[in-house]
Amino acid sequence: MDLHQLAEQALAVHFEQAVGTTAPARLVAAMRHAVFSGGARIRPQLCTAVAHACGMNAPQLTQAAGVAIELMHCASLVHDDMPAFDNADTRRGRPSVHKAYGEALALLTGDGLIVMAYQVLLNAGKAHPDRLIALMQTLSDAVGVPNGIVAGQAWECESRADLSQYQRAKTGALFVAATCAGAESAGADPLPWRALGDCLGEAYQVADDIRDVIGQSADLGKPTGQDAQHGRPSVAHELGLSGAIGYFENLIDRAVDSVPQVASADKLRQIVRMESERLVPSSICQSYKTAASASASSLQH
Ligand code: IPE
Ligand code: IPE
Ligand code: MG
Ligand code: MG
Repeated sequence: MDLHQLAEQALAVHFEQAVGTTAPARLVAAMRHAVFSGGARIRPQLCTAVAHACGMNAPQLTQAAGVAIELMHCASLVHDDMPAFDNADTRRGRPSVHKAYGEALALLTGDGLIVMAYQVLLNAGKAHPDRLIALMQTLSDAVGVPNGIVAGQAWECESRADLSQYQRAKTGALFVAATCAGAESAGADPLPWRALGDCLGEAYQVADDIRDVIGQSADLGKPTGQDAQHGRPSVAHELGLSGAIGYFENLIDRAVDSVPQVASADKLRQIVRMESERLVPSSICQSYKTAASASASSLQH
């Protein structure tokens, strides 16, 4: 089973266990819609890959940590799509949760998934109390205030925001949680793994900004042109497309270089490179760089 299939299976098992049989049916349907809708599952895959690199001696805990992180991610998408935020009608190629189930259930779906993330982690962590405390801290830091998703989304309500701080909080923080939790779930020091999550996470949001400008909503499964429409801080708008692509490539290089010297380092570097190619194919990077250098040289003549 590959890392994606493993993540999918773990999510299904933990979701069914946690959701029980007595909850309101429409809420459960909305929660399922939010989680089982074809996400890339990159965060739990990263968590498992790092745990492997650290000797993975508590696979159930690693799995639960990855599931908790993915549940947080799904919750953030449900709230992000709501009219008070990005007012997006589609997500992962389907109606967003508030479009399918209404705003009240979308709000509760996000809340329910956030709490479920902690429930999953707590259940699995009972056998490893020391690791559980570290994991709870890591997950909370990634989601809350001052530097997690909640803070990141709240920068949109300020008149000024530092772009990198905004990107790293709204998206990067959960990638940091993925790499650090991978290490912590294996009883290893998370510090050497922070930079990988930080660089890859910021690269992920920079890619999202680029795709918001040049992507097609049919391919991405969500609306495009959102950043301009809502006046969101965006690397593509701040640096221009070729500048944003250069910034993206630099972050990917830094992510690759940050992988610690472990036996499976090559595998991890390969995962980063494959993600980079999936997000912004190198042929696209090259065509924007060629166009930028052609227009620079025509200006010189
Ligand atoms: C989308 O994340 C939102 C961002 C943080 C850029 P993903 O691109 O990981 O979304 P899914 O989970 O695959 O749908
Ligand atoms: C991504 O926000 C981060 C969160 C959802 C917290 P965006 O608004 O940039 O992501 P998409 O483009 O809707 O996936
Ligand atoms: Mg948003
Ligand atoms: Mg959005």
